Amino acid sequence: MFAQKFRFSPVHITMYLLILICVVGDTKEEAQSVIFTKLQAYRINNIYKTVSSLTEVQCCAQCLEDDGCVSINVRTNSSNQNCNLNSVSPLDANVSIEKSANSSVFYKDNAPWKLVFRLTSGGGTDPYQAYVNGVGTANSDDCMMLYPPMCTRYYRHERLDDWKQWNVYQVRFALYYNRTEVAYVIFNGTGSDKESWFSKERVLESSWTDLMGTSQLIYFSIKGDYNLGRHFFIHEYYGGCPADRGWTATVSGKSYCSFDIHPSYPGIVYARNQTKSTYNSTGFGIADVLGVYIKLK
Ligand SMILES: *[C@@H]1O[C@H](CO)[C@@H](O)[C@H](O)[C@H]1NC(C)=O
Ligand SMILES: *[C@@H]1O[C@H](CO)[C@@H](O)[C@H](O)[C@H]1NC(C)=O
Ligand SMILES: *[C@@H]1O[C@H](CO)[C@@H](O)[C@H](O)[C@H]1NC(C)=O
Ligand SMILES: *[C@@H]1O[C@H](CO)[C@@H](O)[C@H](O)[C@H]1NC(C)=O
Ligand SMILES: *[C@@H]1O[C@H](CO)[C@@H](O)[C@H](O)[C@H]1NC(C)=O
Ligand SMILES: *[C@@H]1O[C@H](CO)[C@@H](O)[C@H](O)[C@H]1NC(C)=O
Ligand SMILES: *[C@@H]1O[C@H](CO)[C@@H](O)[C@H](O)[C@H]1NC(C)=O
Repeated sequence: MFAQKFRFSPVHITMYLLILICVVGDTKEEAQSVIFTKLQAYRINNIYKTVSSLTEVQCCAQCLEDDGCVSINVRTNSSNQNCNLNSVSPLDANVSIEKSANSSVFYKDNAPWKLVFRLTSGGGTDPYQAYVNGVGTANSDDCMMLYPPMCTRYYRHERLDDWKQWNVYQVRFALYYNRTEVAYVIFNGTGSDKESWFSKERVLESSWTDLMGTSQLIYFSIKGDYNLGRHFFIHEYYGGCPADRGWTATVSGKSYCSFDIHPSYPGIVYARNQTKSTYNSTGFGIADVLGVYIKLK
């Protein structure tokens, strides 16, 4: 119903308001802050309560009344026990979601962080070409999830190409493994462009406690070491493969150190003990998803 590429459009906010009739009785402020977005032909399995309701709007109202409800499934082929209240949203890493012809998900889309890019390890496409030029990416409801059940492409929102127009306030870079966030960095987005936000000077907060220290870094950029195919690269020191150390790299299989070698590409490596590490050590782990989120002022 709402094409993904219009997710942020003010025009469509008006359309969302149609769904907001379900907040009758609540304050106007609450109504404005809660917006449900429809995801057609999906069903979430993290259900904690099932009730009957005559319409989508009623089911939506049930969700708003229930603390802990962040999304609903509405079964469209039955009027009995057809409203599921769910504890997770399609956008959460740990959601269990599947395609389902007779069901739709409505989820609260009021999180301040909006996903604009998601890359999955083993996805085949070059990480840098995907991020900068959109190669191998899609902006669709099927692809917008961190672990989408029905999409083999990366997710990329066109908003990346208009970055400067959006007054991006902060950017969150997050790495996941097995549906759990394993590392993140929050950047100051003010005055940035779609690549320059990823820099040491802009780091505001990170799961890596030593990232804001004084050490000189060789790389801190999305392009990274282009010739060696290491992107989203936060790197301190080259000293020959076993001595190379840093925080993270998304590698495309062009080079030869052990940390560059993965069963399929790209591969994502990250320092897993909250501090930088030599890549060729137990201090490094593998991530399977990379996400970029933006927050507007
Ligand atoms: C899933 O993730 C969300 C958001 O990170 C968290 O609040 C929730 O507790 C998690 N649920 C489960 C079942 O792990
Ligand atoms: C959807 O509902 C129709 C009509 O009730 C039913 O025939 C069909 O099998 C259902 N589809 C799925 C995938 O359950
Ligand atoms: C409605 O669809 C669900 C799956 O989406 C299916 O399990 C159920 O049997 C269908 N109900 C009817 C009455 O067709
Ligand atoms: C992924 O997480 C699930 C649930 O927490 C766990 O059962 C499973 O063993 C984990 N798989 C891997 C490969 O770590
Ligand atoms: C973010 O960057 C802008 C522009 O350089 C600066 O004015 C602002 O103080 C920075 N914010 C923080 C929290 O560092
Ligand atoms: C370090 O590199 C060597 C040689 O490539 C490899 O055999 C070894 O498994 C690596 N160790 C770790 C902990 O990554
Ligand atoms: C890092 O953490 C892993 C997993 O907890 C542990 O096995 C390893 O010894 C640690 N490595 C370093 C270098 O601290």
